[in-house]
Formats: sequence, C-alpha cells, structure tokens
Amino acid sequence: MQPSRLDDVAGFADLERFDPEELRDLQLRRLSWSLRHAYDNVPHYRQAFDAAGVHPDDLRSLADLARFPFTAKADLRRKYPFGMFAVPREQVSRVHASSGTTGKPTVVGYTAADLDVWAGVLARSMWAAGARPGDLVHIAYGYGLFTGGLGAHYGAEKLGCTVIPVSGGMTARQVQLIEDFKPRVIMVTPSYFLSILDEMERQGLDPTASSLRVGLFGAEPWTEAMREEMQRRSGLAAFDIYGLSEVMGPGIGQEAASSPDGLHLWEDHFYPEVIDPVTGAILPDGEPGELVFTSLTKQAMPVVRYRTRDLTRLLPGTAYPAFRRMEKVTGRTDDMMIIRGVNVFPTQVEELLLSVPELSPHFQCVLTRPDRLDELTVRVETRGENSSGSTLGGRLVELIKDRVGVTVAVEVLEPGIIERSQGKAVRVIDRR
Ligand code: DLL
Repeated sequence: MQPSRLDDVAGFADLERFDPEELRDLQLRRLSWSLRHAYDNVPHYRQAFDAAGVHPDDLRSLADLARFPFTAKADLRRKYPFGMFAVPREQVSRVHASSGTTGKPTVVGYTAADLDVWAGVLARSMWAAGARPGDLVHIAYGYGLFTGGLGAHYGAEKLGCTVIPVSGGMTARQVQLIEDFKPRVIMVTPSYFLSILDEMERQGLDPTASSLRVGLFGAEPWTEAMREEMQRRSGLAAFDIYGLSEVMGPGIGQEAASSPDGLHLWEDHFYPEVIDPVTGAILPDGEPGELVFTSLTKQAMPVVRYRTRDLTRLLPGTAYPAFRRMEKVTGRTDDMMIIRGVNVFPTQVEELLLSVPELSPHFQCVLTRPDRLDELTVRVETRGENSSGSTLGGRLVELIKDRVGVTVAVEVLEPGIIERSQGKAVRVIDRR
C-alpha cells in the first residue's frame, strides 16, 4: 500500500486542508487494492464477485463500485467464526465480536496494521471533537468483545491522552472516579451517561461543576434534544461518534467541535454509499437511505459494500471539506416500527419526549399485537415524584399524534422504574 499524505500527518493535524481531488485519487487506488485483496483471499468474495460477473479489474472509477455485490450481516454469520478473514489466522492480532441478539455473534479480526489504522482514525475523531494530547480521558464504553472500550482506549493513547479504562457498570464508582481524577473528556453511550448524571445528582453532586468538558457519545442513535439534555445537565459539549464492528469499530465518522452538524466520515479508510434499502439502488448525496461501507485499507477482514442497516444521508463536508458528512443516524432498519402503516423510530419518540420538561429521558417502546394490528406503548418516567402522570401522558400522546401521525399509548411511571442500560439502551421491546 502506498503511503499517503494523510498518513504522514499522523492522521489528524492537517485534515482541514486536505485536497478533495487527492482524496478521490487515494480512494480509487485503495479501493482497487481492497477489492483485489478480498477477491484473492476470501472465498466468499471470490464466489460473490464471480456470481455477479465482476472482477476487481473492472474497477476503473469509483462509480464502478456499483457493479460489485453487497455484503450483509448474514454473509458474515455464515462464515462464523473466522471464514471472512483475508490473512492467515496467525497474522490476526485481535478479534472482536458484535453480540447478536439472535444466534451467533459476528466475529471481526484485525492485523497489527489494522489496529494502528483504527487507533489513528479514533485519535483523529477525538481531535475533531476537541480532545487534545495530555487530556485525561474517562472511557465508560464496555471493554471486551464489544469494540467500544478497547477501540476508544487505543485511540486515546495514540492521541497522547491519559486513559482511565473504567469500562461500563458500577455507576457509583464511575462518579467517584470522575470526582477524584477530574477527566476532561468522557467516552460513553449517551444512555449510560444519563445514568451517570442521575447518580451524580442522587449523591447530591452538581454535574455542571464536574471537570468534564467534552463527551464523545455513540454506539446508539441519539437526537439533538438528547444533546441539549446532556449539555444542560453536565456543562460539557456533546459530540456524536459513529462506527460498527463489521467495518472497524468506533471512529468511522465523527462530529467536529467547530461544526456539530453531522459526522465527517473518514473516507480515506471507509468508502460510503447510501442506497435505497428496498431496491439497493444507489441514492445521490442528500437523499436518505441505508448506509453502506467498503473498507479501503483493512487487511484482516476487508468488507465490500457492507450494508449497515443504519439510515442517514450523505452531505458535503464542512469542518473538513474533503470528507463528506453523514447526518445523525435516524435509526436502524431493524428498529423501525410500523404502526398502522406509519414508520416510527425510537429517535422520534426521544425528540418529542424531551420536549416535555417533566418527563425524564429514559424510555422504552413496547410493541404488542392485541388483535391483528400492531400497537405501540411508550413507557416513560416523570423526573420528579409529584408531577401528574395522566396529564403528562396525554401531552406526549398528543405530540406523537401531531408530529408522527400515529396514536400510541403512553405509560407514565415513577422515576427509576425503567431498566437502565450500562451500554447500549434497549429501546424496542417486541411482545408480538
Ligand atoms: O457500537 C461501535 C461504537 C462504539 C460506535 C462506541 C461508537 C461508539 P457495534 O456494536 O457493531 O459497534 O454496533 C454498531 O451501533 O450499526 C449503529 O446501528 C449503532 N451506532 C453506532 N454508533 C452510532 C451513532 C459499535 N453514533 C451499530 N449513532 C451501528 C447512531 C450508532 N447509531
């Protein structure tokens, strides 16, 4: 692989000035290498390309990628555990796995060089969000097979930070470590950050007086209303970080502190497309659809046109003009609820629920099918003991009816009833 100027600048210091033309050239060279690498070394890709009648030599421009077949999570599952690796297992330095809610997990692998690229894009993401060498970084993403903890860990070290590798859970201890060590940066899921804030308040501490100034929140969808909630309650600046294990882990896309208007995608390593989730047709930038990635530099486990099932759209770069942005993820195709013909995402519920000041940001969507039609019950909590549940519930029912166009049931509970996550929140409970 040819070294690029991006590698020369250690991946983050000079991104604003990167030339778009140079990036397109680099992408084409890397894409050509990556398709060939996948075809030559992974039987799945050889078969899939052959079946589609394409060969890596057919790639002459970036647009030719459209001729190559998609890869789905099911393809990775079928090759469980190591069948998608493109290098001998001995050359794989680490594996991670995504917890499948059903069936076997999806295993991913990294060579030492892959781990270095990953730490590099993570360091770049942290830099973009305003973290700097020397910062203390509290990492409350789970460590282990999940890519959140270790991914953030090596990125923060690469940036030159002091890492506090707390992992998820033991919330009272999280609070104590924040109080005692005084980290400037926190990396955690937004839903677990809320639990940490609740615990601080329960202990009589004022979170706005804490040392935290920058948060990198990801691993689950979250809304502008949630940003407002987290910033108001904690005094830090909240930025979105995106990624998925199949493509690498956290650090594929990042919101920049100078323009928190969507996430810049690190397109020199991950080539994005947005497609119509039903027809598979590529959609022009600006149109919403399913995000798809092709890895450009990954050695151990290249992915070709991997369907993320995440819904978003591509937008031109702002803080880093050469790199396109993705809009904040609306939701996953899997999390979309269809209530009497209307598509409903948990993020829509979150946005509306947070516009009722007396309701807490903790919520769940319960799907049932009492007769032949699906019903949605939104379970929410009041913030204080003495708000009137029925009035609040009525307000949320009205808001959802007005803005989303469906009638749902709302169950208003006492504070603390809804189960808290220590990582990704479970928003949809399917009781059909
Ligand atoms: O969640 C990687 C990660 C860790 C990203 C820490 C950011 C921070 P997986 O467990 O494989 O990997 O889950 C990937 O989580 O396809 C999205 O559906 C969702 N997701 C991740 N980040 C975001 C985000 C990690 N910022 C899946 N906004 C993805 C919305 C996100 N959804």
